[in-house]
Amino acid sequence: MRRVGILGGTGLAGLDGVEAGPATDAPPETPYGAPSAAPERGTRGAVEVVFLQRHGRPRSILPHRVNYRANLWLLQSLGVDAVIAAFTVGALAREYRDADLVVPNQLIDYTHGRADTFAGVDEIRHVDFTEPFDATLRSGLVAAGERCRLRGRLHTDGVYGCTQGPRLETAAEVDRLERDGCTVVGMTAMPEAVLARELGVRYAGVCLVVNPAAGRGDGPITSAGIEAAVERGAADLSLLLQTFLDGLDEGG
Ligand code: HPA
Repeated sequence: MRRVGILGGTGLAGLDGVEAGPATDAPPETPYGAPSAAPERGTRGAVEVVFLQRHGRPRSILPHRVNYRANLWLLQSLGVDAVIAAFTVGALAREYRDADLVVPNQLIDYTHGRADTFAGVDEIRHVDFTEPFDATLRSGLVAAGERCRLRGRLHTDGVYGCTQGPRLETAAEVDRLERDGCTVVGMTAMPEAVLARELGVRYAGVCLVVNPAAGRGDGPITSAGIEAAVERGAADLSLLLQTFLDGLDEGG
């Protein structure tokens, strides 16, 4: 039996197709404080799934206020050794459309002031982070995308620029991100990815594109536009994750 953690975001409220396990009501405390929500446990085939909503239930925690350390620590303490994170992002790459999915292979961290290590103040730790996303999990996600015929709407690599938020970017900031090589911009992959690495938990993610990045669309980015894209893409994201879990069950 494999145990996989799924970190839900704006585009992934829960996990369809997962048989619910026993409810856990109160978010347990961790040595790092309270996680975003109570973990939800379930199974799909022989795969055990622990779902955690990073923005809380009801959704109320902004990206810069998420307790990433508590969330990752909790997942690991529940026996999870692989995490798939769902993100919503703005698109920089011209070929990405709203409701497309992207499996990023790289990231650039533009956040500041977030609790981004488990290392104590006196402890020197330099974790290797050359490849921030786990290659095997990424291949599993890409294979799942092919199996559920998302080809064309699933981009098999991408560079995730993680900004501090909670505001969206200026057009000039997006120009800089593009010069840096970013293809999508979001607010939650860091420090999540590096904390997983510190714990030895394999980590990969799927981005749901919900808007053209600032200055790349026809006008301002609106909540209504983002919600419409979430509505259009959420089912594909959920299907991709279910197919991915089935691949694990079959030994992939
Ligand atoms: N920028 C940063 N984070 C985001 C965006 C964006 O345009 N869209 C969704 N999350």
